[in-house]
Amino acid sequence: MEMDSHETQPIMTSSPQGRISLRPMTLSDVDDYMVWATDPKVARFCSWETCKSRDEGIKYITDSVLTHPWLRAICLEDDRPIGYILIMPVDKIRKEIGYVLARKYWGKGFATEAVRLVTAEIFKEFPEIERLEALVDVENVGSQRVLEKVGFTREGVMRRFYFMKGSVRDMIMFSFLPSDPLK
Ligand SMILES: CC(C)(COP(=O)(O)OP(=O)(O)OC[C@H]1O[C@@H](n2cnc3c(N)ncnc32)[C@H](O)[C@@H]1OP(=O)(O)O)[C@@H](O)C(=O)NCCC(=O)NCCS
Repeated sequence: MEMDSHETQPIMTSSPQGRISLRPMTLSDVDDYMVWATDPKVARFCSWETCKSRDEGIKYITDSVLTHPWLRAICLEDDRPIGYILIMPVDKIRKEIGYVLARKYWGKGFATEAVRLVTAEIFKEFPEIERLEALVDVENVGSQRVLEKVGFTREGVMRRFYFMKGSVRDMIMFSFLPSDPLK
């Protein structure tokens, strides 16, 4: 029998005053996933193209979400996802964080809460990592602000660093070390 991923992966709950919880995403989340994945404004600074159909959404979750090494749905009290947050391996001592929220929920502090929660836990889960990184487009001011609010250090601009959707982008490198204070 195939086990539900809920049973095999930890569910992170936010701090007592927190409004979100993080849990593995499942195929049954497809309709909520479609809300942000079809939105060009959400996709603007992301490497992925907008999702064009529910079947495409199911395929994406099956091929890329369920197989992802570390990805959690960001959920409100009703346990329905409003976005996701993920950690990608860079090398043996570095990992990169990424996150996406449906537009309806922007500007309410949810991404900051999710990034804070993951940053607090991730060095315990992966004690070998020396730094958690985030690479943010110079024009993605909201995302830069999220990282600053959590306590990431803005290290500098990586000039002409990333080719995305037909354009070469300047990216800002942010990092958080295990010894850094979480804000
Ligand atoms: C980036 C993103 C996750 C932020 O989510 P969010 O829940 O709105 O973030 P928060 O509410 O926690 O914080 C956003 C902060 O940025 C600020 N902000 C947002 N847009 C801004 C802008 N254009 N200029 C200045 N500040 C801006 C907000 O005011 C807030 O700061 P404050 O609390 O000091 O007022 C969300 O916009 C998103 O999903 N974007 C699309 C995907 C994406 O770009 N992901 C990141 C890739 S690196």
